[in-house]
Amino acid sequence: VKEFVVDRSHSPEDGRLKDPTPFWGEASPPEIVINENLVKFLIRPYDGYSTGLFLDQRLNREFLASIASGKRVLNAFSYTCGFSVASALRGGETVSVDLSQKYLDWGKKNFELNAVFGAHKFITEDFFEYARRAEKRGEKFDIVILDPPSFSRGHKGKVFSVGKNWRALVEAAEKVVAPNGTLFFSSNFSQWEEDCFRRQVLLEIRKRKPATEEIRLPPQPTDFQKAEHPLLAIAVKFRE
Ligand SMILES: C[S@@+](CC[C@H](N)C(=O)[O-])C[C@H]1O[C@@H](n2cnc3c(N)ncnc32)[C@H](O)[C@@H]1O
Repeated sequence: VKEFVVDRSHSPEDGRLKDPTPFWGEASPPEIVINENLVKFLIRPYDGYSTGLFLDQRLNREFLASIASGKRVLNAFSYTCGFSVASALRGGETVSVDLSQKYLDWGKKNFELNAVFGAHKFITEDFFEYARRAEKRGEKFDIVILDPPSFSRGHKGKVFSVGKNWRALVEAAEKVVAPNGTLFFSSNFSQWEEDCFRRQVLLEIRKRKPATEEIRLPPQPTDFQKAEHPLLAIAVKFRE
């Protein structure tokens, strides 16, 4: 058993929570495979704070996979490619982009575990740079998934803060959404309220694409409904 803290800013400095030794009981194997809605995922219970899958996204993952058949899916900030592998299993053609080679390698293992092969791409790059290049090439995606961290520092020291940069993020992503495509944007940023988040994102997109419609997403999974900082999420359909 490993104890996690909800808010890392209050983590003890002594490293106890980083130590893989369980506080009590037997340690589980360092790698286990779990099954979520018939998709297998490799979980590493002792690999830092994140074990390989964000369970609060499971209904969103299922929803996006359900519309992915025959679609080109861009999973930005893909982490271990959870959205990608679920979408690929339903017939989507996926591109996963993440700054971290380690997480993309983990993502490739998730593809192998589910015996998904084919034209799926894994790109180690800053999403903003990837989106700029994709736009230049005229590359478009039917589904674009944005689930960025609240804060990150890129290889060249470039800082991303969702609170400050979300508008630029949405605008960069918009440029690679195909006509009638879907944009999904979620965040755990603790300073936003859900209604306000959805309204602001929709208003921002409608500045450029006034006919954009919001799509109803599934509710939060019941085990996360009382979370202190619930996942915020919106999906929109672009209309030309
Ligand atoms: C919150 S996790 C994403 C979780 C993932 N969407 C999922 O559902 O499993 C954030 C990920 O964004 C990546 N990341 C952070 N900054 C990035 C950037 N500028 N461009 C691309 N990836 C980035 C991190 O390496 C990390 O894997």
